[in-house]
Amino acid sequence: MQFFIDSAEVNAIRALHAVMPVEGVTTNPSLILKSGRKIDEALKEICAITGGPVSAEVTAEDYGGMMRQAESLARLADNICIKLPLTIDGLRACREIRAGGRKTNMTLCFSASQALLAAKANASFVSPFIGRLEDNGGDGLQLIADIRKIYAAYGYGTKILAASIRREEHISGAALAGADCATLPPQLMRDLVKHPLTDKGLAAFAADWAKTGQTISA
Ligand code: E4P
Repeated sequence: MQFFIDSAEVNAIRALHAVMPVEGVTTNPSLILKSGRKIDEALKEICAITGGPVSAEVTAEDYGGMMRQAESLARLADNICIKLPLTIDGLRACREIRAGGRKTNMTLCFSASQALLAAKANASFVSPFIGRLEDNGGDGLQLIADIRKIYAAYGYGTKILAASIRREEHISGAALAGADCATLPPQLMRDLVKHPLTDKGLAAFAADWAKTGQTISA
């Protein structure tokens, strides 16, 4: 499963890229607001960090406006992936943009039927929102498993990009359910490595090593 970063914070993305190659990035209007950056500048800088797809979301809600914004966003870098809402106009724009060879990410997916429509529109990615579905009494991980089953049954190539991830169980659960990628907030990516038994083991090894009185020559 590929790990993407769900953020428009350039420094945070760069710092994580030094630890583990960032395989893609997802942004949205709320994340741009949080970053305090101009969208074009932030996206260009992010695209220079990773060669993976960088999702840039249109804000227009009509087909014509989406296509105009998509053209403008696509000019920023070759690895810009156009993020479109799962609406009738979004599906139409998706088919058109894909026909032109650009990657697309259909966002705000909350049902298997929506994911089926995204695949039929030839989307590169579909983003089921696990956390927000759970906030509303749904089962985000079951949704991913259902989409996986449908895509496998009909041979759709659209990648399942698990989104709206809030905690570790969402990552392992999405992987077990067959997601192709997951997009994580930077802090969650860092927290994934943590386990109390790792810390406890490290402390015990350090204590025993000190008792040996030895050093490892550098
Ligand atoms: C995904 O593409 C979205 O940007 C993101 O995962 C939404 O997450 P949230 O529900 O925590 O805002």
